[in-house]
Amino acid sequence: MRVCLCNELSAEAVEGALDAGARRVAEIFRRNACAPVCGGCVEAIRTMLDRAREDERE
Ligand code: FES
Repeated sequence: MRVCLCNELSAEAVEGALDAGARRVAEIFRRNACAPVCGGCVEAIRTMLDRAREDERE
């Protein structure tokens, strides 16, 4: 599944960045050697970040 259409960033790529310790949207892009273009995916990436943080608390 593509999370970011502009950068062809998959959910797996976002999860990989999360697993590597990324905790901000900008870090997700940086770790995948890209940057936001339209910003349309930012909310979805934030949701994935929030879930990762919740998982850490459990
Ligand atoms: S969909 Fe991610 S920057 Fe456009």
